[in-house]
Amino acid sequence: MTGRQAGLAASRRSTALPVSPIRRLMPLAEEAKARGRRVIHLNIGQPDLDPPPSVMQAAVDATGERLAYAPSRGLPSAVAAWVTYYRHHSIEVEAGDIVITGGASEALSLAMLATCDPGDEVLVPEPFYAPYQGIAGVAGLRLVPVPLGPGFTHPNPEAVRERITPATRALLICSPSNPTGTVYRREDLIALGQVARDAGLFLLSDETYREIVFDGPPAPSALSIPGLDEHVVVIDSVSKRFNACGLRIGTIVSRNPAVMAAVADLAELRLAVPVIDQLAVARALAAPEPYIGTVVATYRERVAAVVAALAEIPGVTCHRPGGGFYVVARLPVDDSERFAAWLLREFALDGDTVMVTPMSDFYLTPGRGRDEIRIACVHDPATLIRAARVIGAALAAYPGRTG
Ligand SMILES: Cc1ncc(COP(=O)(O)O)c(C=O)c1O
Repeated sequence: MTGRQAGLAASRRSTALPVSPIRRLMPLAEEAKARGRRVIHLNIGQPDLDPPPSVMQAAVDATGERLAYAPSRGLPSAVAAWVTYYRHHSIEVEAGDIVITGGASEALSLAMLATCDPGDEVLVPEPFYAPYQGIAGVAGLRLVPVPLGPGFTHPNPEAVRERITPATRALLICSPSNPTGTVYRREDLIALGQVARDAGLFLLSDETYREIVFDGPPAPSALSIPGLDEHVVVIDSVSKRFNACGLRIGTIVSRNPAVMAAVADLAELRLAVPVIDQLAVARALAAPEPYIGTVVATYRERVAAVVAALAEIPGVTCHRPGGGFYVVARLPVDDSERFAAWLLREFALDGDTVMVTPMSDFYLTPGRGRDEIRIACVHDPATLIRAARVIGAALAAYPGRTG
């Protein structure tokens, strides 16, 4: 038999995955480009910055290696590099507390699979990194939203407690947060850790953006809170701190031996993480450079430029994030996804248009995020200011404007 069989459906698991608005909007961006427009992409967290030179050099050096499978927990030298990295952040972990993963994405998946069973509930402050929903769904878990506090501050611990049911197994936080830039202070982690301890929950902490904090030291890690060794599972990545998303290196870290044994068993199923990628980041992890300071300064300047430019647009509000590299803006529009599509289809300012991320996907509560967009600060300040001007001019012309 040749050709495709009609009617043989893909799994319900996969068809139930939320379709991101970005996937729906991408063809419109391509069409706009085909019509000769410049599309300024504000929609994707793909940094435009170069990785540290030591990463590039180590990647080149690593090409001389034998390309055998790495141990499924990670190359010993790369695991040791993560141990050293955490020590520089005053966090003591051992090699056995670490499994190297294919980015934070795989770490998230392994963390959920190792701590929760199908039907379990995971509490998550919203808005949250949209893929959490699909990753949890594939594992058979249900995300239960908890609102962030006013001004995108950490969630009220009482609001977390109120949502705990017999099915609740974990609380999943992200600090600094994508999309809101919320940086959880030490006392916030202590309070949420207390909730986790009282209720016997895991505290899954996505610390992908740890160092990207604008007013102070890196965000405190959940691993640094005493008394939570059984509960804390950290999800980490080099994607953003080294601007090396393409290397696909992350890690999962916990001092809970049962969880790490489960993670190791799960990791064995996929055999290994790429050797060259592990070797490429090991040196930079073990010997932190001034590099990250430059990255933080770059994003601080960009975020300030975007926030100031958006503040000049009538009807637009946004708050300055404490870290990460995203800005969430509230717009006077009927539906931010419709506005985003209209921008690509209908609008240009001197040939330029922009692609933004509508925020409804970052919420589970119906209706929330419909007047919000996320802007990724992955361009130089001049381009970001230009993009904000395009948004301002578009809002003045948009037929679905409210207020
Ligand atoms: C909060 C958060 N967690 C995890 C990831 C996944 O990162 P990685 O490239 O390490 O898979 C991202 C990527 O944007 C993210 O923003």
